[in-house]
Amino acid sequence: MSTSWYDHDAAARLRRTLDRFPRVPVAYLPTPLDDCPRLSDAVGGPRLLMKRDDLTGLAFGGNKARQFTFSLAPAVRDGCDVLVHGAAAQSNQSRQTAAAAAKLGMKAVVIIPREPRSYPVQGNLLLDHLLGAEVRYVFPEMAREAKQQAIDELKAQGHKPYETSSDGAILRAVAYVECVLELCDQLDRLDVIPSAVYVCSGVHTVVGLTVGLRAIGAPFRTVVISPYVGQDEEVRERLVPVGSECAATLDLDLTFSPDDFEVYCEYAKPDYGVLTKTGLEAIRVVARTEGILLDPSYTGKAMSGLIDHIQKGRFRKDETVVFVHTGGSPALFAYSAELFQ
Ligand SMILES: Cc1ncc(COP(=O)(O)O)c(C=O)c1O
Repeated sequence: MSTSWYDHDAAARLRRTLDRFPRVPVAYLPTPLDDCPRLSDAVGGPRLLMKRDDLTGLAFGGNKARQFTFSLAPAVRDGCDVLVHGAAAQSNQSRQTAAAAAKLGMKAVVIIPREPRSYPVQGNLLLDHLLGAEVRYVFPEMAREAKQQAIDELKAQGHKPYETSSDGAILRAVAYVECVLELCDQLDRLDVIPSAVYVCSGVHTVVGLTVGLRAIGAPFRTVVISPYVGQDEEVRERLVPVGSECAATLDLDLTFSPDDFEVYCEYAKPDYGVLTKTGLEAIRVVARTEGILLDPSYTGKAMSGLIDHIQKGRFRKDETVVFVHTGGSPALFAYSAELFQ
């Protein structure tokens, strides 16, 4: 067994620091690390390992459940009684906010823009309703304002709301620092050192993974496939201060530059939430070779990016790549017209 590819003393120190953070047990952890040999064969790839954060539980799983174990601790500590979230109609975070509120005995308010994915009521939105969230439909251009209005209203009524995107946000990255320890332990047991970890992330998942890997001196990096269109360079710059904040939160003496982040926005085109041809192919090949469901907005696009990199010859067959499955499969049902062709 190889035990020398990362700094185990640094990992033990990080473990002790993480153990001091309060948590709320809303996720099933650790998640499995699955070998995907049939997928690897189908895409002519290196060995592919999938970190199954789609299996975190909490109403169909996903990365938010792992993040919430840390980021909802201040809400519980401070006696908050309403979880608020607002994003796209098929937001996985809204669904897991609603589920976490139910589990913690809180109320949930989710703000849903009236966009095409909001009717018929399907996928994540259907689950928001089933989970008992108060769903407030708004014009898309009013969504931000409506969220603030809901928070103000709740406060005026004597509630203590907690917004699950902005409140305790850095703790969502801290959760993925812990994921690094979990992953490295699993890799150790498999006796494998990967060449890269691929993930779909806007900010917190990639920041956590990057900080964690740097903190323990791992010899590989995270590759981010962004779910949002944008300029790679701008995204890399935006991640730098979040990396520093996450490191500081964990008393880690680390500094970051844009070069610490490898970001690809091109696979999100033409837009966030729009199913792409290569995304659809990626969803199909993973489903049909491994029986694993990706999603149209995040993991399908991330997998399409990884497959493209494999096809461009970035990895040899004797290398190993880890793909972090961040969840999102309930959204599949809101895309049935495009997926069922
Ligand atoms: C399935 C899925 N993957 C990835 C992400 C990105 O998460 P984050 O931006 O917190 O890293 C999200 C949420 O936005 C998601 O729902």
